[in-house]
Amino acid sequence: MPSSISTLPEMPRRPRELPASVPVCYCPAMPDPVTLPVLETPRLRLEPLVPAHATETFGPLGDERLYRFIPGNPPANLAALEARYGLLSGRRSPDDTQGWLNWVMRRRDSGEPVGTLEATVYPDRSSSIAYVVFVRHQRRGLATEGVARMVEHLVVDHGITLLVAEVDTRNAASVGLLDRLRFSRVATVRDADHFKGTPSDEFRYELRPVFPAE
Ligand SMILES: CC(C)(COP(=O)(O)OP(=O)(O)OC[C@H]1O[C@@H](n2cnc3c(N)ncnc32)[C@H](O)[C@@H]1OP(=O)(O)O)[C@@H](O)C(=O)NCCC(=O)NCCS
Repeated sequence: MPSSISTLPEMPRRPRELPASVPVCYCPAMPDPVTLPVLETPRLRLEPLVPAHATETFGPLGDERLYRFIPGNPPANLAALEARYGLLSGRRSPDDTQGWLNWVMRRRDSGEPVGTLEATVYPDRSSSIAYVVFVRHQRRGLATEGVARMVEHLVVDHGITLLVAEVDTRNAASVGLLDRLRFSRVATVRDADHFKGTPSDEFRYELRPVFPAE
């Protein structure tokens, strides 16, 4: 049985009408990602990433525990993070073939930033996703809430038909999140990567949206 995003919170609408043909470039057929919207959930506000977010996220992103099962490392310094956010906030790859959609998740009650979300959108209407919740905010369902809202946005507003996440097989938290969101594990890739001195086996997870009949 295919996975269904109709099981996710707030997934009531069909995507807007899209051209039948697959675009050859990310840009012409998709909403302008430069005008990426603020998204909301009961507890979170998802703000389109801008360089000014670096000041708030630099501290929590310095926690080494976030990088145990991913290739990255803490940002070297604030200027490096600002420069990275500057690149990402262009919302498109330099060759204009991919949409780079990034958000900072912020608690609506306290205003604290709690993590980041990332979606790379390809011309075939697939998207690979990634996510980080800062350590002191983990295990409260915030990734579930934020990623579900991003997935809804990708499907409804960008016409995405396939969502993909690649996860180190040791990353129990990420596996737990994807199971919670009803992604399907479709493959295991041995030696998919090598970082922090060890080989990394990866699970590939997919979600293909299915809409209830109207
Ligand atoms: C993966 C990550 C984003 C999860 O964030 P989170 O806000 O703690 O996740 P949630 O609280 O929404 O939990 C989602 C599910 O995963 C489970 N889970 C979360 N952390 C877990 C852990 N350490 N071990 C086992 N299961 C875990 C939860 O129990 C929940 O499932 P349930 O609702 O059925 O109980 C967070 O651990 C993180 O940022 N890790 C470091 C960065 C990273 O590895 N990103 C993923 C790259 S692929």
